[in-house]
Amino acid sequence: MARHYLVTGGAGFIGSHIAKHLLSQGEKVRVLDNFSNGKWSNLKDAPGAHVVEGDLRNRETVRESLDGITHVFHQAAVGSVPRSLTDPFETMTSNVDGTLNLLWHAKDNGVKRVVIAGSSSVYGDTPGMPRVETLPPSPLSPYALSKLNQELLGKIATRLYGLDTVTLRYFNVFGPFQDPGSEYAAVIPKFIQAIMDGRPITIFGSGLQSRDFTYVENVVEANIRAMESEKGGGEFFNVGCGEKYSLLDLVDGLQRTMKREISIKFKKFRPGDPFESQADISKARKVLGFEPKVYFEEGLRRTVEWFSETKNSPELSSVPQNIHSQSLSGLATKKSDVSSLSCRPERRTMGSLSYFKKERRKHPSPIQG
Ligand SMILES: NC(=O)c1ccc[n+]([C@@H]2O[C@H](COP(=O)([O-])OP(=O)(O)OC[C@H]3O[C@@H](n4cnc5c(N)ncnc54)[C@H](O)[C@@H]3O)[C@@H](O)[C@H]2O)c1
Repeated sequence: MARHYLVTGGAGFIGSHIAKHLLSQGEKVRVLDNFSNGKWSNLKDAPGAHVVEGDLRNRETVRESLDGITHVFHQAAVGSVPRSLTDPFETMTSNVDGTLNLLWHAKDNGVKRVVIAGSSSVYGDTPGMPRVETLPPSPLSPYALSKLNQELLGKIATRLYGLDTVTLRYFNVFGPFQDPGSEYAAVIPKFIQAIMDGRPITIFGSGLQSRDFTYVENVVEANIRAMESEKGGGEFFNVGCGEKYSLLDLVDGLQRTMKREISIKFKKFRPGDPFESQADISKARKVLGFEPKVYFEEGLRRTVEWFSETKNSPELSSVPQNIHSQSLSGLATKKSDVSSLSCRPERRTMGSLSYFKKERRKHPSPIQG
């Protein structure tokens, strides 16, 4: 049976890398994203993607987005620990209710496997380094709690309903297309952007806190391995490089790569963040055959290069060429909007996916999602 992939959060940083990888292999890909943090620019090299603009918490949207889908990469989530401290409601409903909604309808739809983006944050302050999957979780923030809920929902869906799921606990992912701009941006893009702009960077705490910084290509590889494997159903796997770098090591690496003077402002350590984090990836190696290919220094080099190349590229505020898009946000549908649907660069507002399909039969296009 031919495969058809759904990538939730596919307009975000990691999801867009997965979607583009699949498309480059000639696969059929649909993206579901509410664009709360996703960007059209992330999909500009994703010709043929079919993008549904809608929310994971909406049952109808999810049901329709899953129509014809055989495999799901579930990346959508409200990220960021600090954001979850200021708005735990959005984090919990998006990440937990949204995941439940997705898994429930995936089961009804006969989806073969769902690979769930988990997080190393579930380990929190539990003793034991490097992190092994057998350690008890000890989340320190609403975000970490929501990620723990996600993976447990996956496990329960496998055990009780027979829906095959695998959770990958990512360790601090970085790379091209990661957003440096938001208040809640991750540390590497934030630092690179500040250094490029000649601004000081801010470190919360001593700078000795450490992370297993993982280049995004490794995460795509782990997702593909997890999807292809016949093993690991209902289980969790660490995905990292198995290394540990402090924030001061990171600054050092950036100084060498970017060849710029870096000034640092130190502020008080933030609550909710674990002090150190390092993955033991033996389980992913053994069961999924995962092996990281791009390590920290090379990942930094590639990321800095991408930021320098795209420095002056304008943000895309509308749908890139060769992408089918539709909105399932429940907005009013004008017939005139739908009747001209084909491969167009501007955003279209549709009422339902079945309507979209009917219209597409009337207006066949060479690029199908
Ligand atoms: N980046 C990391 O270092 C890291 C580390 C551990 C885990 N993760 C997990 O990996 C996944 C992807 O993270 P990312 O860094 O690409 O983040 P991202 O914010 O770039 O991507 C997440 C995407 O999900 C979308 N989204 C959020 N809520 C939604 C909703 N209710 N309905 C539909 N779409 C919604 C956003 O618009 C965004 O495009 C997330 O599940 C995150 O928790 C990321």
